Amino acid sequence: MADKNILHMLTPHKHVSPFDVNMALDAGYDSVTPYEEVELDEITDLVQDVIFSRPPHLGVKSAVFFGGDDAVLALDMIEAAKKALVPPFGCNIMADPAGSFTTAAAMVACVERTLKTKKQRQLKDVSIAVFGATGVVGYCAAVIAAMEGASVKIVGHDGRERVAKRAEEMKHRFGVDVEPVDGSSAEKNTAIVGDVEVILAAAKAGVQVLSADQLKAASKLLVAADVNAVPPMGLEGIDVMADEQEIAGTRALGIGALAIGPMKSKTEYGLLKRMIEAEEPQALDFRDAFQLARTLVQ
Ligand SMILES: NC(=O)c1ccc[n+]([C@@H]2O[C@H](COP(=O)([O-])OP(=O)(O)OC[C@H]3O[C@@H](n4cnc5c(N)ncnc54)[C@H](OP(=O)(O)O)[C@@H]3O)[C@@H](O)[C@H]2O)c1
Repeated sequence: MADKNILHMLTPHKHVSPFDVNMALDAGYDSVTPYEEVELDEITDLVQDVIFSRPPHLGVKSAVFFGGDDAVLALDMIEAAKKALVPPFGCNIMADPAGSFTTAAAMVACVERTLKTKKQRQLKDVSIAVFGATGVVGYCAAVIAAMEGASVKIVGHDGRERVAKRAEEMKHRFGVDVEPVDGSSAEKNTAIVGDVEVILAAAKAGVQVLSADQLKAASKLLVAADVNAVPPMGLEGIDVMADEQEIAGTRALGIGALAIGPMKSKTEYGLLKRMIEAEEPQALDFRDAFQLARTLVQ
């Protein structure tokens, strides 16, 4: 009988995400077991239980997946899991809290494709404003874009203080410099977007962060993407289905949540499948998600 592919799905929350369970089984896992309300200091014991229960050559057929809704905690859990491995005993490790790693990866990959193919620009040549960067999707999108060399501003809807802490954390953890800016009024947001070429909107579902008039006033804008699929849209005038459609009254192109969504799903599926097919155990975070997503959006 073939050796089974077994996934242990851990979350700090009360429930693992049914989305992730379905995705893992569809990608080919034989078994997905949820572990809920898991704390960081429990990761070592759980991972060592996973690895010591099978001979070392089957480590590659075991995996742990971290959910939740906190990017930093998920990254800490990945690090704790890596430290818990005892070679030659290993296993695959992946995180995608609230789908954020793969959503952010897909969003930035779609923007990169549009910049390249429609505006002859690269991420490293553009300035980007990220809305919702205290959330999981916005945090990852800002880091991915900054790691690619973009000049990134993270916009605080309630002022500069909280995004400044995020910026410090991004610097400490990933060595990237992002600029925290105060977006606590419509006037401040208009000024911020007047100075950037790309807008990434990753704010709370059902919250409009910029009006159509604010987008029209953004004279340098090339591309704007929004991952909020719940009306009203985060960026007024960019339809959820928009896939490189011109934003009315501008020469910029818009990308909506339902153009990004399928890329997100393909990316998560692809990473899960990669763990199943790997010959050596993998450790996958949003950087791996982005590398995969940019090949999928072509
Ligand atoms: N298309 C897809 O495939 C997909 C997948 C996953 C998520 N999403 C969407 O992505 C977006 C972000 O998700 P998430 O999980 O990162 O959410 P989240 O963790 O709740 O973060 C939401 C962000 O929006 C900010 N925010 C709250 N109220 C705001 C306001 N009035 N104006 C501006 N910003 C405001 C939050 O700030 P605070 O820190 O103050 O709360 C936070 O930075 C959501 O719209 C979600 O539905 C899309």
